[in-house]
Amino acid sequence: MTRSADRVEGRLKVTGAAAYAADHRPAGMLHGHLVLATIGRGTIRSMDVRAAGRSPGVIGVFTPDNPLRLRPQTAMLPTFLGDSRPPLQDREVRYHGQIIGMVVARTFEEARDAATLVKVSYRARRPDVSFEGAEGEVPAPPFGRPLDRLADGVRDIGHALRASQVTVSATYTQPPKHHNAMEPHAAVAEWKDGTLTVHSGTQGPRAHAAEIAEALGLEARQVHVISPHVGGGFGGKATTWAPALLAAAAAHRLGRPVKVVSTREQLYTVTGHRPPSRQVIALGAHRDGSLNAVSNDAVTTHPFEDPARFGTMDFYKTANLHIGLRVAALDRPPSTIMRAPGAEAGSFALESAMDELAAELRVDPVELRLRNDLTHSPEHGRPFTGKHLAECYRLGAERFGWRHRPPRSVTRGDRLVGAGVATAVMHTGRDSTAAEVRFRPDGTVRVATAAADLGTGMLTVLAIVGAESLDLPRSRIRPELGDSTLPVDDASTSVYGAVGSGSTVTVAPAVRQAAEDAVQELVAHATGHEKSPFHGTPGVRYDKGRLTDGTRSLTFTSLLALTGSPGVGATSTARWDGSERFAVASFAAHFCEVHVHRLTGEARVARMLTVVDAGTIVNEKAARNQITGGVTFGIGQALLERAHVETRTGRVAGANLADYLIPVNADVPRLDVHFLEHPDTELSPSGVRGLGELGTVGSAAAIANAVYNATGRRIRDLPIIPEKLL
Ligand code: MOS
Repeated sequence: MTRSADRVEGRLKVTGAAAYAADHRPAGMLHGHLVLATIGRGTIRSMDVRAAGRSPGVIGVFTPDNPLRLRPQTAMLPTFLGDSRPPLQDREVRYHGQIIGMVVARTFEEARDAATLVKVSYRARRPDVSFEGAEGEVPAPPFGRPLDRLADGVRDIGHALRASQVTVSATYTQPPKHHNAMEPHAAVAEWKDGTLTVHSGTQGPRAHAAEIAEALGLEARQVHVISPHVGGGFGGKATTWAPALLAAAAAHRLGRPVKVVSTREQLYTVTGHRPPSRQVIALGAHRDGSLNAVSNDAVTTHPFEDPARFGTMDFYKTANLHIGLRVAALDRPPSTIMRAPGAEAGSFALESAMDELAAELRVDPVELRLRNDLTHSPEHGRPFTGKHLAECYRLGAERFGWRHRPPRSVTRGDRLVGAGVATAVMHTGRDSTAAEVRFRPDGTVRVATAAADLGTGMLTVLAIVGAESLDLPRSRIRPELGDSTLPVDDASTSVYGAVGSGSTVTVAPAVRQAAEDAVQELVAHATGHEKSPFHGTPGVRYDKGRLTDGTRSLTFTSLLALTGSPGVGATSTARWDGSERFAVASFAAHFCEVHVHRLTGEARVARMLTVVDAGTIVNEKAARNQITGGVTFGIGQALLERAHVETRTGRVAGANLADYLIPVNADVPRLDVHFLEHPDTELSPSGVRGLGELGTVGSAAAIANAVYNATGRRIRDLPIIPEKLL
């Protein structure tokens, strides 16, 4: 059954009624403005804050000389996914744009103006920011690899490559890319009665609260994070960054509410970005196209954005596999995860190389992929919970008209026309979490969990799954998320958040379980409460919001009115025990037509079709939005996005949405999306599997492969800007 629903909060968002973090204005609120380092490496000799301190409205100027005390983060997420060093705790400058101060004043303008009066004297050194040529080191566990899966008698991957009948080998490079959330990182913190309330956009309210508490030395329950609308995330708000920590610490110190909002430009260095990458890919095949060797040696600047692993593992069946990763330490702002971490960069390289191999073998690129279809993960030999990638290819080829793919370099007027194809494999999984389902006397049902909706449609998923589990219309369901006090699985060691394309598959089973348990509670209430007409009656059951014993029937609204109950429900946890037995990934095939202007070298995506294998689809409209959004990321990756770091100063240049190019509507043609909808019942009774990041994987390669088909030019360094095609 295909369901398609508008977003529950859609009207609030498009009318401007939705309150994002920075929209909160508690009485007496102060404004903090960040002061950033203007050297790339060195130490602060002195900071003269006298003029800033005398500036109108200024309440406090915090610097390493007068710091807000923040402890280093030890939790898993910030250490691996962000920057574990809190700002203002020492005088060392590690990168250009590092936070070295914060001015707090009565108004935003007063804080911003005073911040310009802070005079800093540095002992500067020349930063090392050049990724080009950086060698990097094998990262520490748990990221330390290499991983080799070699056939018997094969010494190393080089041996396997040399023994292959056909080989291709090339280096693929990609620039750093920056998160640009619609609402820049912002937090409003208020300390009251021993509790710190923080309005802050986050992908994981419970984790965010725990991280803020740890940094401030508070108990986790003393921090209450509220984040109903995230304002964009994609990994940029998966962990806690300095604006929230500084707002919380300043509110704690000053005893007044404090708001800190990063400017658009500051975002580029005070929060993490997607690191650059360089990958050497080598493929060896038999003449019939079956792979004998796949090798990916990658260098990047952040261990979790691992292109070698996430862009190579689980793509193809091969007799020999080598994956290597090295991480370069540079004097650059911290990297973090961004949508489809690792897989975005890795799939571009691998899927470009597969296209090169297809050309070398003179095999159709779709056929080459079908010949190397994989059923078990090479990592541990486990089968996938579900996989229908071959069907994605067959259906996609048919719908796209792949048979009619133009031969090399067909022109249409001044445009060269080409078509390309690529695979998407996105590792996903299922976390554990808890949800509450509660029947209320006003006739509504509360469905609540401490998940986040970073624009994915999670709130609507709660409403849909709640309504279906209880056989009620969606209008009766009141979904709630984005609050650290809502249920999670407290026994879980993971810090549950909206990451890894895992929210729907994690939350849906918890809601179903809680609904089942809430119905039992309701029936028990109906038969157990002495004011209930069913008191002591056997055989009472729940049916579409009513209680019935076969002869009489009563709505739960009436029942709760009669018993005077404030509500009846249950909070239940759902876990998955299959992670030791299965590999979990979602799959897709992208088909793309590109037009390249003969004279200007401009490449434009003319049409794109994606066939998705991600299990049952809970909300067709939202799922389509996720895939088209992901493919749009891929268009940016292929053709537009790149950050520039000045080698001499370490400054991120063009840190704004005018110079940092992302696709606009004119860059994005109609994107066709088709869902196979084979329920993945191994992963959950809902049959769903993650898809939020899937569209980003492989889409840039499909575009680059189409550019090759159109022009005969193989561009291995992204983005494919016009200069590279002239
Ligand atoms: Mo996503 S990069 O797992 O927030």
